[in-house]
Amino acid sequence: MHVHTESVVAGVGAWIGCLTYQSRAVSRPSETDLKQMVARAQQRNRSLGVTGMLLYDNGRFLQTLEGPPEALEVVWASILRDQRHSDIEILTDHMVSSRLFSNWDLLLYSREQGLARPSRSSDLAPHALAHYVPGLVQIALEADDTRINALLASIAEQGWSADDIVAHLIEPVARAMGDAWLADRCSEIDLTIGLSMLQLAGHAVRTHACTSTLRRSRYSILLATAPGEPHMLGTTMLADQFTDAGWRVEMAFPQTKEALANQVAAQDHDAVDIGLSDALPRQRALTRLREAVEISRKAAPGHLVVVSVGGRLFAEATATAASVGADHARRSLDGTSARLAQLIRQGRTIQ
Ligand SMILES: Cc1cc2nc3c(=O)[nH]c(=O)nc-3n(C[C@H](O)[C@H](O)[C@H](O)COP(=O)(O)O)c2cc1C
Repeated sequence: MHVHTESVVAGVGAWIGCLTYQSRAVSRPSETDLKQMVARAQQRNRSLGVTGMLLYDNGRFLQTLEGPPEALEVVWASILRDQRHSDIEILTDHMVSSRLFSNWDLLLYSREQGLARPSRSSDLAPHALAHYVPGLVQIALEADDTRINALLASIAEQGWSADDIVAHLIEPVARAMGDAWLADRCSEIDLTIGLSMLQLAGHAVRTHACTSTLRRSRYSILLATAPGEPHMLGTTMLADQFTDAGWRVEMAFPQTKEALANQVAAQDHDAVDIGLSDALPRQRALTRLREAVEISRKAAPGHLVVVSVGGRLFAEATATAASVGADHARRSLDGTSARLAQLIRQGRTIQ
């Protein structure tokens, strides 16, 4: 039996339907067309207690609607009838205990108003990807790898970058899965299996996404889980990111700090990253992590320039890099290779 750190209580009877679909615009709508359509939809949704989000991007719609099931039925019937779109495909359809879009009747994002795509895409990512989190948590805990892969593939196909998917979807999902375990809503086995399926699906997304135009790096890194840490999602996802960026990558899943030290000593790495769970906060692991950092530095005197740490504990900023003697604590997996390359360059200049 584990300790509850927070109570997650969903009001009985408060469950609402949450539907996400994508479709293709029959002809390219103007900004005015879109605004008019949304204004009408908003009016109707408001009267029915339906909230949601509509994304229009390059001829495609993506919409999430949430509300009482009967109200959703009514809105859904109108949407299906609407001749302005076709190829309607339901992505997720489930019941949730709370709304994600409670402050808006229907929020419109359009990625087409002449804005540069990459930065716009990143601006939208936290909002637009957040609504997939509950659904993905559910199917990951059910170990439904077919649906996990289908969902991530369809999101990647909509144009989200692998980095956005990792930072704004996979990482929050891992934390929500950790919360489900802490609240006794799933077993440790469910959590571990779900995390490994998420990791495989995330890997597939990155391998299919077109790889970066970033300057290739020749640095080398040992990506290790903290000694004895069974959750390896972050470490394996970092392996994809560093490989894409041209690093020489080695991975280690040591059981003890001595085993970690042996791995560090075996090769001349420029950096080592030691990862705690991305799902659970592991507050009690700090002392052991500090020892792991220390022993890694001693194992590679002279050439190891940067020691980085990560995991949910650091993502939530409850501990700093300095508290465990590391040079860097990653808040997110996103951008880690670029940041570590920068720290290595700085470190070399100082040495
Ligand atoms: C991509 C798309 C999203 C839509 N979203 C909504 C919506 O959220 N709520 C709504 O009432 N109608 C929505 N509609 C439907 C139209 O606004 C519809 O014309 C309007 O609700 C009138 O419905 P009716 O055909 O039942 O008269 C949407 C249509 C499209 C093409």
